[in-house]
Amino acid sequence: MLTLTGVDVHYGRVQALFGVSLTVQAGEIVTLIGCNGAGKTTLLRTISGLLSPSAGEVRFEGERIDGLRADRVVRRGIAHCPEGRRIFGQLTVRENLEMGAYVERRRDRVQARLERVYGLFPRLAEREGQPGGTLSGGEQQMLAIGRALMGGPRLLLLDEPSLGIAPILVQEIFAEIRRVNAELGTTILLVEQNAHLALGLAARGYVLETGRVVLEDECRCLREDPQVREAYLG
Ligand SMILES: Nc1ncnc2c1ncn2[C@@H]1O[C@H](COP(=O)(O)OP(=O)(O)OP(=O)(O)O)[C@@H](O)[C@H]1O
Ligand SMILES: [Mg+2]
Repeated sequence: MLTLTGVDVHYGRVQALFGVSLTVQAGEIVTLIGCNGAGKTTLLRTISGLLSPSAGEVRFEGERIDGLRADRVVRRGIAHCPEGRRIFGQLTVRENLEMGAYVERRRDRVQARLERVYGLFPRLAEREGQPGGTLSGGEQQMLAIGRALMGGPRLLLLDEPSLGIAPILVQEIFAEIRRVNAELGTTILLVEQNAHLALGLAARGYVLETGRVVLEDECRCLREDPQVREAYLG
């Protein structure tokens, strides 16, 4: 479904990604783990069209998407749930969700997706009229995921959904991510610093170090890998 081949990304003169190759098959949950500054967010921003690679290519369902504008990438079926959530604090939960469906003109589809998101996240339904900024951190993360789903994506990019969230809510959010994959059939690329969680959820994973993929394998193998255990599983 998604293939990156030899992707380099620069910020001005500073190179952040070096020849990154990665694949995600339809229906999979794939994780990308790595320390602060490894280039995880840069990689997601490159897929979603917010950054352009200086070398290599990004293909989605067989077609080149590198160089496309971000809104075109959304229309192709890729949603990006950014690091730090970025919800609209003044808007209500419902308005935030509707913003996620801005490319969808058909009202009936927006309504159907809204109901599906409320089915997945009953907490959001209960807080429909509440300003987004008054939700707890974990609830804001659910809202950010819900908003991404409102575009009806086939591929969902998640950037550190566990960041700064109480452990009990993190468990809940990871359970919801599993349901999104199982029930909606949405393919997921999950970026996480919490390797324990990510390697427990995903089937396959990549380890990124200073802009390079240094390991890739099934997560059950990565969990047993001495290098991964030492660096990421403590
Ligand atoms: N806008 C920018 N301008 C210049 N350099 C940047 C910019 N954004 C990121 N970088 C650099 O690119 C490298 C990768 O950053 P990135 O945000 O992709 O890392 P990350 O793996 O997501 O880290 P974290 O786990 O802390 O979110 C870092 O060295 C960072 O300083
Ligand atoms: Mg990041």
